[in-house]
Amino acid sequence: MKKHIISFCVIGAIVYSCKTQSAPATPPTPETPSTRVATSSDAVKQGQVLYAQRCARCHDLPAPSEFTASDWKPIMERMAPKAKLTAEETNWVLAYVNANAKK
Ligand code: HEC
Repeated sequence: MKKHIISFCVIGAIVYSCKTQSAPATPPTPETPSTRVATSSDAVKQGQVLYAQRCARCHDLPAPSEFTASDWKPIMERMAPKAKLTAEETNWVLAYVNANAKK
């Protein structure tokens, strides 16, 4: 009977210690950046940064509003390889210029 009481205490201690260890390990994380889906406004922001950083190397930076969205498509097809943009970066810059293009 004494043995049972001791093993009961041991099990109790293990269960208790597990509980106290796991409690602080899970803080509430309602929205972490890594799981957040990129919205189109994120693409526009990324595009604006790339546009300013990568498109002004060879010439003055044209204002996106100097061209219509349908002008920008062939321009970006010519300029994206010059600026060594990836397909994803090209889409971001396109999202930016289209959002500010001549109407
Ligand atoms: C390696 C140099 C280089 C880089 C980088 C570059 N361009 Fe150009 N860009 C040129 C040259 C050269 C021309 C003129 C010849 C032509 O139109 O192809 C030009 C012309 C243009 C024009 C005028 C086109 C027209 O039809 O009037 C626009 C707008 C333009 N670039 C936008 C961009 C944008 C946006 C980027 C960034 C994605 C960019 N460029 C990156 C070299 C570059």
